[in-house]
Amino acid sequence: MFPTTDPTSTKAWQALQQHATEMKKVQMRDLFAQDATRFDNFSLRFEEILFDYSKNILNNTTRTQLLALARECGVEHAIKAMFGAEKINATENRAVLHVALRNLSGKPVVLDGKDVMPDVLAVLDKMEGFCAKIHSGEWKGYTGKPIRYIVNIGIGGSDLGPVMVTEALKPYWQPGIQTYFVSNVDGTHIAETLKKVSPEETLFLIASKTFTTQETMTNALTARQWFLEHAKDEAHVAKHFAALSTNEKAVTAFGIDPVNMFEFWDWVGGRYSLWSAIGLSIALTIGFPHFKALLEGAHAVDQHFETTPFEQNIPVLMALIGLWYSNFFDTATEAILPYDQYMHRFAAYFQQGNMESNGKYVGRNGKPVSYETGPIVWGEPGTNGQHAFYQLIHQGTRMIPCDFIAPAISHNPIGDHHVKLLSNFFAQTEALMNGKTAAEVKAELQKANMPEAEMAALIPFKVFTGNRPTNSFLVKEITPRSLGSLVALYEHKIFVQGVIWNIYSFDQWGVELGKQLANKILPELENNDQITSHDASTNGLINAWKKIAFS
Ligand code: F6P
Repeated sequence: MFPTTDPTSTKAWQALQQHATEMKKVQMRDLFAQDATRFDNFSLRFEEILFDYSKNILNNTTRTQLLALARECGVEHAIKAMFGAEKINATENRAVLHVALRNLSGKPVVLDGKDVMPDVLAVLDKMEGFCAKIHSGEWKGYTGKPIRYIVNIGIGGSDLGPVMVTEALKPYWQPGIQTYFVSNVDGTHIAETLKKVSPEETLFLIASKTFTTQETMTNALTARQWFLEHAKDEAHVAKHFAALSTNEKAVTAFGIDPVNMFEFWDWVGGRYSLWSAIGLSIALTIGFPHFKALLEGAHAVDQHFETTPFEQNIPVLMALIGLWYSNFFDTATEAILPYDQYMHRFAAYFQQGNMESNGKYVGRNGKPVSYETGPIVWGEPGTNGQHAFYQLIHQGTRMIPCDFIAPAISHNPIGDHHVKLLSNFFAQTEALMNGKTAAEVKAELQKANMPEAEMAALIPFKVFTGNRPTNSFLVKEITPRSLGSLVALYEHKIFVQGVIWNIYSFDQWGVELGKQLANKILPELENNDQITSHDASTNGLINAWKKIAFS
């Protein structure tokens, strides 16, 4: 079984605490000045991804001690346990095998005495065949027209991954296919989407692991009703609705023929499911060969993660750097800042990936932990972020470790746009690291002939302390393969952190309470009876709403 080591009880943790007090006095600019090889020492390459972590407040000792922490907390064992199909998601008694979904070599992955790979490969084959029929026009809608619109209805892990990937890979979209995503139970989402599609040419993908999620089922029923208003005949549903799910019974009960069901399994976590049948919207949008390349890119990282010594293991280092700041510098958030407009949902995707995985206060021993766990993850594409929230990153009172991600080659090489974008990417990490001293500010102002008194008043506001940590990912180009690799790097980072924090990263009990209460409140909203069963605020809000709704 998984180890249940309290990380704070390890020798490495104690050593890191001691070491952190020293490192808090260190300036990164000095580390660079003292060591001409710092970039080489603290950067790694994986295929066409350069991972530069030299602009962090760390040195060789930090790295050694962090790696020791990973070892003491059983990360090596945990990696073996995940790849070995052990039921490491103990609170749900499930294995965690998203890595099997991209194991295209078919090398056996044995769970409960059965190799899961034949089923995985069979679903992939079915997806490939389905894509071929849609893209060739062989699959016809109820009036004989080919499918032009894909509407994926799902939420959380059954939405965010496909949204993020299809947006990031827009240059690869199949001609003639337009894809939309509906997730919010707010009727506006589906209403606005249905305005853009025609029932004769639309395929609805009902994406839900459980096939019970309120938002998804509500949107799916609305879509079905809308479709039948036009198609008039239930028999046509088969040509326009497919299900991506683990729950065949519920799919059948909904009225979708199991022939149109693309299966996955309970060992695929929702937020790790884009590689499964949940990725059908991706494959239909970018074409199956590109979907396969996405899986291959992730698989390559899986192999790197499984076999590379920790010193050169990128996800392990990403995890340890994050943890270094969270636990020893008291940072609360991490920003993901892609310098690529197509990747505009990448941070949102890992907001779920990270926060739903590691937003836990109970350790694997069932007791509250005594240290910080998952960070708050946020971010927006550069350069927009620069004109919004970077002020706080540069001069705020909180340290915010940032990941910068940029492609070396743009899919849209227009004029000098890309060099301008990249100049900002390089400049920001440099500025965050170096800052600007009072002497440098003074020299600048003197050059501009500012009077001495004015200068003295202004200098404090123009000083940048610097020493603000960043990781940089320079990717040759955002392709299906490199994106697959990037996503897998972050997935494994989350895994390693969860192991060290001694929490269960693959359940999500924290989202249950709100769902339960919403189900309790829903019938209370059906009539004008005054509500008194909740706290005063909730009663007050419900009754105020009733006054408007029933007037
Ligand atoms: O938000 C909770 C959650 O269970 C996520 O983990 C999951 O991705 C999402 O709901 C959707 O669940 P399902 O795919 O079962 O509809």
